[in-house]
Amino acid sequence: MNIEAIYNLISDDRHAVDKVIRERLHSEIVLINQISNYIIGSGGKRLRPVLILLIANALGYKGRDHHELAAVIEFIHTATLLHDDVVDGSELRRGKETANNVFGNEAAVLVGDFLYSRSFQMMVTVKNMRVMEILAEATNTIAEGEVQQLLNIHNADLDEAGYLEVIRSKTAKLFESSAQLGAVLTGQDGEIEKAMASYGLHLGIAFQLIDDALDYTGDADELGKNLGDDLAEGKPTLPLIYLIHNGNPEQAELVRDAINNGRGEQLAAISKAIKASDAIEYTLKAADREVEKAIATLNCLPDSDYKEALIGLAHFSVERSF
Ligand code: IPE
Ligand code: IPE
Ligand code: MG
Ligand code: MG
Repeated sequence: MNIEAIYNLISDDRHAVDKVIRERLHSEIVLINQISNYIIGSGGKRLRPVLILLIANALGYKGRDHHELAAVIEFIHTATLLHDDVVDGSELRRGKETANNVFGNEAAVLVGDFLYSRSFQMMVTVKNMRVMEILAEATNTIAEGEVQQLLNIHNADLDEAGYLEVIRSKTAKLFESSAQLGAVLTGQDGEIEKAMASYGLHLGIAFQLIDDALDYTGDADELGKNLGDDLAEGKPTLPLIYLIHNGNPEQAELVRDAINNGRGEQLAAISKAIKASDAIEYTLKAADREVEKAIATLNCLPDSDYKEALIGLAHFSVERSF
């Protein structure tokens, strides 16, 4: 199932989530409304909400809490994007100038905090301790991942295992939690909850692996983000780590120097070296392995369109160009 068909399958749920998002964004403070509407109104793929909606449906959920929690997850995600773009010095997000560029770093950070804390107010309304536990752990892990990544900046000696640890925390954890919440809401036993968490985790790892490849090979118009942000920052991602260990000595030195010194101006040379090597193929293969693991966990679900959609979503996370 392709991404349009997946969106269509849950269009009623998605509209319901949109409504929750619109209602819960409100604040008496004008600047908060301005910035939160600016970033949320720019769209985004809404993949994490899709995940919880699909899994809740696949398990026959009949309540309404999945709409509230899908909005919670999207608020948490959006808060991390507001903060992440400040930290990464990014200028383009969702096809528009980043909030930090338009409104300044201070406002972007503080409105990120608003969205975070609003998501806590919302999750409490679900009155389910297990849900709170999962989301409390998720937000904490994401923060750890972003800080660990900050510590890895300019470290050309970071290895693949260290890189994977960061992406598991900063990105895959929220996918894992979304998927897990879909199961928790339906009161599933431990096995199914574990399987769904594992689906989200592997899909999230694949998603970030592809994101890091697209930072060199993508198209900015399609992605809605500028290419080369990772390099400009000196962020050691898998395509670069691969080149350091498997490129020729000049390529390895070029990449080491760019990571150590954050040489964004070397983007053309490094992209060329990446494309001349197997770095992207290697990264894609790693993502494919994660997707296979994700799909294997779906065996425990009864057959349904929702299950097909979850398989399609896993494929989309690696085949995507945006
Ligand atoms: C961007 O996530 C941040 C990463 C984890 C790479 P998405 O690509 O899901 O962002 P939007 O919500 O669609 O803009
Ligand atoms: C995003 O990582 C992870 C979080 C927002 C927590 P990136 O920095 O790679 O994502 P993009 O490329 O800015 O979307
Ligand atoms: Mg970033
Ligand atoms: Mg990125």
